[in-house]
Amino acid sequence: MQVCSNNQQMLDAVSTWKAQGKTIAFVPTMGGLHAGHLSLVHQAKANADKVVVSIFVNPTQFGKNEDFDHYPKTLEQDLTKLEACQVDAVFTPSKEQIYPNGYTSHVKAGSLAQGLCSKSRPGHFDGVVQVVHRLFEIITPNVAIFGQKDYQQLLVIRQMVKTLSLPISILSGDIVREQSGLAMSTRNQYLSVDEKETALKLYQVLIQLKQAVLKNQDLSVAIHNSKATLSQDFKIEYLSVLDANTLKSITDNTSKIAILCAVFLGSTRLIDNIIFNQG
Ligand code: PAF
Repeated sequence: MQVCSNNQQMLDAVSTWKAQGKTIAFVPTMGGLHAGHLSLVHQAKANADKVVVSIFVNPTQFGKNEDFDHYPKTLEQDLTKLEACQVDAVFTPSKEQIYPNGYTSHVKAGSLAQGLCSKSRPGHFDGVVQVVHRLFEIITPNVAIFGQKDYQQLLVIRQMVKTLSLPISILSGDIVREQSGLAMSTRNQYLSVDEKETALKLYQVLIQLKQAVLKNQDLSVAIHNSKATLSQDFKIEYLSVLDANTLKSITDNTSKIAILCAVFLGSTRLIDNIIFNQG
């Protein structure tokens, strides 16, 4: 496994593979790797000849009062896990490599970035799109894999790729959950043992809401009830039931539904979702 800590090393690896006619699958991460990330890596391996994983905690997608400074940094453990998965290259650039000389991006997040997470994290998706576009420029993958847990991010990236006509297939990786049902996240490390116990209620409420939607119960009543249950343990940022393709209200044309939520448990922000076919 090659560890490329600067752009030139990464560019050299990519051009060698391209000269050999190899395809490249890319998994962008911010490190703090868990089984969810590793499942994306396995999916990447199944979809291309070579797999690149990036580890870069991108400052431009964090707000002023967010956890950029103490975001978990576990590089040694991450590299061990990726080596065990037989990843071909890990890209671990510095901020200067990604954003040389005050690099600014002309690429902005599109309409799907509006609402949901953007309400509490204004500018977050512009930062995500900026870094992902930059990583795409360097790695030029054929395929890139994003976890479904960050569902709005996945759609925003798909929209960017479509708008810019980038020749990259975007695949979605299923949410990997703890046995309790809690969606795996690097930020779960912030939870105490008691909070972890409480956190599993989030997925239970989402499942109940899904059942209510499938039974055609009144949507606003069902959401109201779910919020009432959630608010016993969490501070709710949003809980929405939307068309999974447009992130707008459900219409007669909706084929796929997204139940999406963001909550705070203590000072830890958790997001989760369920995506399913209408009836
Ligand atoms: O999902 C993440 O970990 C990040 O938003 C990503 C895609 C690696 C960009 O920094």
